[in-house]
Amino acid sequence: MKADINYLKEEFFRLYGDREREPVLFYSPGRVNLIGEHTDYNGGYVFPCALDFGTTLLVRQTDTAELRLNSLNFPGEVIIPVALNYLPVPKSWTNYPVGVINEFARNGIRAHGMEMLFMGDIPNGAGLSSSASIEMVTAVAMNELTGAGLEMMEMVKMSQKAENGFVGMNCGIMDQFAVGFGRKGHAINLNCDTLEYRYAPLNLGDRRLVITNTNKQRGLTNSKYNERRSECDRAVELISIHRPIRHLSELTVADLWMLDSYIDDPVVRKRARHVITENDRTLDAIRALESNDIELFGKLMNESHDSLCHDYEVTGMELDTLVYEGRKLPGVIGTRMTGAGFGGCTVSIVESRHVDKFMERLSEIYTHKSGLVAEFYLPGIGDGARIMQAAGSRQ
Ligand code: GLA
Repeated sequence: MKADINYLKEEFFRLYGDREREPVLFYSPGRVNLIGEHTDYNGGYVFPCALDFGTTLLVRQTDTAELRLNSLNFPGEVIIPVALNYLPVPKSWTNYPVGVINEFARNGIRAHGMEMLFMGDIPNGAGLSSSASIEMVTAVAMNELTGAGLEMMEMVKMSQKAENGFVGMNCGIMDQFAVGFGRKGHAINLNCDTLEYRYAPLNLGDRRLVITNTNKQRGLTNSKYNERRSECDRAVELISIHRPIRHLSELTVADLWMLDSYIDDPVVRKRARHVITENDRTLDAIRALESNDIELFGKLMNESHDSLCHDYEVTGMELDTLVYEGRKLPGVIGTRMTGAGFGGCTVSIVESRHVDKFMERLSEIYTHKSGLVAEFYLPGIGDGARIMQAAGSRQ
């Protein structure tokens, strides 16, 4: 799944001409979350890592007042006049980069004319943060080309804002953070309330991470996701009548009794229970990894999925089939959905010697049960968003 830079450059010159002026090359990864799902917007812990595949961007400034956007993943060119503020276009992939350019503009950092060519090797809509990857590659490019000198943390926040305000997905900060701050061979232990973070080496020994794509077309993800967020807000509101809290992650499993006492709506109660127990599990899982107890880490991954299935109700037949059938196979240490859910991918830890059989068997069972064809990725853990090659330097 590696982008071919020479091919991308050829396409760039075919689209925009003028081979004498080299574009600048940027790259940004996708991410997989190991545990800590739907905790980020509840002020909790997450434990994601950046992948070694992502989005590549070639960009060149022009002296016209136009943004020209092309992608090898989507047909057609979009041309937008440089402006003080921009408007989203319904259902267009360009909302991700333009949302970020808009966020820069709102902060007084204006783009020149630009010719941009994107190429992503993260499957779209698979819950591996192709959106955050496009946003962050645009942010690092804008930062470099305008000389704005922003810190990574500012770009992460601006990209999240772009996704919330421009795209209309009320996401938390996890994806943009993981994509921005990723580090090779490490997962990131992030406190989404304080934004304090630590890198944890991901030493799985003779086991491998396996990502399995349900290949289910996700439809209503944004609206369902936003609905879960409101349910959590409602839980905070109801609990706060008795004990003021800012977010659900202030509570621990010792406080679970409050849910029965203070929340009369059984659905809202279940949602809150997921968040509180998941936050607890995430901390336990990080400790387990630190003490090299991968078996326990896997068990907590399994429990995380159960909670996302029964309490948070964001899984569905496809994800559940991969997870519950996968667990029966030899060598599987832990397996769960990753990302927002409602389709997308699972992440599993599997003993290396069993990986081939795992993929073969699960693929058969999944197709038999769902009629869909699963895809498998054996990712490495990569670095975060960055410039790869400045203008003028030839590869
Ligand atoms: C999506 C969002 C993240 C996070 C996850 C669920 O990926 O973009 O902010 O909420 O879902 O953990």
